Amino acid sequence: MNERQLRYGQCWEDAGCLLGGLDPGPGSTVLSIASGGENSLALLLREGVRVIAIDRSPPQIAALELKVAAFRRLTHPELLRLLGAQPAPAARRRDLYARCRSDLSPSALAFWDADPAWLACGVLPVARFERYLALFRRLVLPLVHGARRRSELLLPRSPAERQRWYDACWDGWRWRWLFRLFFSRASLGTLGTDPSFVRYGHDSQAEQLLAQVRRVMVEDDPLRNPYLHWILRGRYGDVLPLALRPQSFSLIRSRLDQLSWRRLALEDWLDAGESGPTATPTAAPNVAPNVARIDGFNLSNVLEYVEAPEAGRLLDRLHRRAAPGARLVLWNRLAERHTGLAPAGRWRALDGVAAELHRRDQVPFYRRLVVAEALPLAAPVGRRHG
Ligand SMILES: C[S@@+](CC[C@H](N)C(=O)[O-])C[C@H]1O[C@@H](n2cnc3c(N)ncnc32)[C@H](O)[C@@H]1O
Repeated sequence: MNERQLRYGQCWEDAGCLLGGLDPGPGSTVLSIASGGENSLALLLREGVRVIAIDRSPPQIAALELKVAAFRRLTHPELLRLLGAQPAPAARRRDLYARCRSDLSPSALAFWDADPAWLACGVLPVARFERYLALFRRLVLPLVHGARRRSELLLPRSPAERQRWYDACWDGWRWRWLFRLFFSRASLGTLGTDPSFVRYGHDSQAEQLLAQVRRVMVEDDPLRNPYLHWILRGRYGDVLPLALRPQSFSLIRSRLDQLSWRRLALEDWLDAGESGPTATPTAAPNVAPNVARIDGFNLSNVLEYVEAPEAGRLLDRLHRRAAPGARLVLWNRLAERHTGLAPAGRWRALDGVAAELHRRDQVPFYRRLVVAEALPLAAPVGRRHG
């Protein structure tokens, strides 16, 4: 795995599902996998929530740092330009970046200074995964349908019209065939992420994704879906993900001090909690506090990167760090990773909540959303209280 490469310029998990699943209240602390950074920032929209963002990849932490600096130093339109959500000449982005640099740690500075080519497009489109999506948009989609049909993709339609249009005008053999080829496990692993990220699970990934694309195109309104706008157009336009919306900007900016971050693998964070704060390797200047009890865990789909028994062990260890009633949210694309893998009595799956949220999940990359609540540990047998 290339530790120097930015893999995700943005978060590819629906922020609405995350906030709805964790539902963090005032005074709670959330541990959040940083990835592109937006979802850790979106958690600040909930009042009185402290967020500890971790990621094992230094470039992902550099991305979060730059976004935090941009929230602090820039206006909302400037933030969108620096990130590449709005067009801007490279010279303009260079000026905006110059205003953020003083907030960055030496490692984040070194990362963004190393190759200024990113200034031509911004942060959001520059990473490996977004470049893979751009290949789909530029090379594959034109082979499926002509420009006129493609321009009809995001037109206003009623639910019934959406279904009719998708089935009659879009979902032909060529779409299915090229989609299966491009989003096969091998292509995604080689071109989009990393072969080790798609190692587990048996089903055909492309079939799963095709079903999810149909869901977000037909059952929900594609016009209100920022993730779909990015996949199909390479820009959001006015349809922005939660953290980047104008109405989120001031609130997030005013609460940035409640967010801390750290370049750290989840396993190392757990080790540090078990053996005391001194075991934590020092990597970033913004030292995430070694909080004893966590009220919410945003696990992205990191459990898909490990074998099922290891996922069960991690869920057990996370439970030991969970406050009473803590919740976790995680996604599955290929591999079945759920709280049933943990020893009994640790987590209670909130299947109804998860199913309802997943029905509205605007990101078409996951077949399953898992939401669970920490159970209180039963008193050891033979011990008496009172
Ligand atoms: C799990 S990936 C998922 C990204 C995206 N949703 C996708 O399409 O797969 C999100 C982030 O998790 C980080 N990550 C993976 N395993 C991790 C671990 N064990 N500890 C901390 N971060 C991890 C990666 O570096 C990446 O930035």
